[in-house]
Amino acid sequence: MILDISNNQQKYKFTPEMENFIYKCIASALKEETLGIPVEVSIVLTDNDEIRELNATYRGIDAPTDVLSFPLFNNREDVKLMQGDEAAVLGDIVISLEKADTQAIEYGHDFLTELGFLLVHGLLHLIGYDHEKDQKNEKLMQTREKHIMKTLSLLREDYMDVHELVLLAQKAKENAYVPYSGFKVGAALLDVSGNVHTGCNVENASFGATNCAERTAIFKAVSDGVRSFEAIAIASDSKDLIYPCGICRQVMAEFGIKKIIVSQSDGTFAEYSLEELLPFAFKEFD
Ligand code: THU
Repeated sequence: MILDISNNQQKYKFTPEMENFIYKCIASALKEETLGIPVEVSIVLTDNDEIRELNATYRGIDAPTDVLSFPLFNNREDVKLMQGDEAAVLGDIVISLEKADTQAIEYGHDFLTELGFLLVHGLLHLIGYDHEKDQKNEKLMQTREKHIMKTLSLLREDYMDVHELVLLAQKAKENAYVPYSGFKVGAALLDVSGNVHTGCNVENASFGATNCAERTAIFKAVSDGVRSFEAIAIASDSKDLIYPCGICRQVMAEFGIKKIIVSQSDGTFAEYSLEELLPFAFKEFD
C-alpha cells in the first residue's frame, strides 16, 4: 500500500503518531475489504475553510463538511481488474481536522476515533461504496464501517449506534395505545449486554394510570431480569425533541441509565446524561 499524506492545515499538529494511525486505519480497511491488489491512496488533511471550498466546487454545497472522497474508479470490480504490478491509484480522501475535532466532542468520543471513522468512510467510498445511492447501500456501508472500526479496536464489539437505537424507538412507537392523547411515543432501551428492550405508551381512561413509553421499556426489561443499562432512546411523531417526564426520569435514575437520547420525527436527536436531565435525583432513604 502506498499512502501519500499531505497536511494543508496548521490548527492541529500533524504528528508521527497521527501518521501511523492513518496508516493503520487505511491498511485495516483495505485488509478487511480484501481487494487483493497493491493500491495507492492519497490523504489530504485540511481545515473547514478549504473543505468548504471543495464542497462548494464539487458538490455545490457551500458549507464545511467532515470528509470528501474523490474516487478514480466507479466500483470495486473495476479496481479488482487492475492486476498489474503497479499500485492501483484509488483516489483522494480529504478530511477537515477542524470538523473532526468538533464532531468528536459532539459524538462523545476522542479525536482519533473520529479521524478513524472519517478515514474508513472515505476509503470505502474510494472502493465503490455509496451511501447516497439508496438505503440498502447506506446500511451496507455503515455495516462495513462499523466492522472495520471494531477490528481497529476503535469501536466496542457490542456497539449499537445511537441512530439505530432511535430507529428502534420509532418502530416501537407504532404499538402505542393512545385513544386519549393520540400522541404515540416509543422507547428503545439498550442494556449492558447489547440487548435492546422496547416500549410504547399505554394510556388509560383514568389518565393517571397511563404508562409512558420509557417506563414500559424499563419495566419490561426489569421484569425480564435485566437491571444494567447503557442508554434509552425516545421517539415520537413530534417535529420537536420530546423529553421524558419527571416520573420517567426518576425511574431512569433508579436503574442508573447513563445516556438519554431524545429525538424528533425526522430522526434528529440529542443526547443527555441522567445528571443533566435530573440533577439531585432522589436515590435512596434510610
Ligand atoms: N409520554 C410518553 O410516553 N413519554 C414521554 O416522555 C412523554 C409523554 C406519553 C404519555 C401519554 O400517553 C402521552 O405521551 C401524552 O402525554
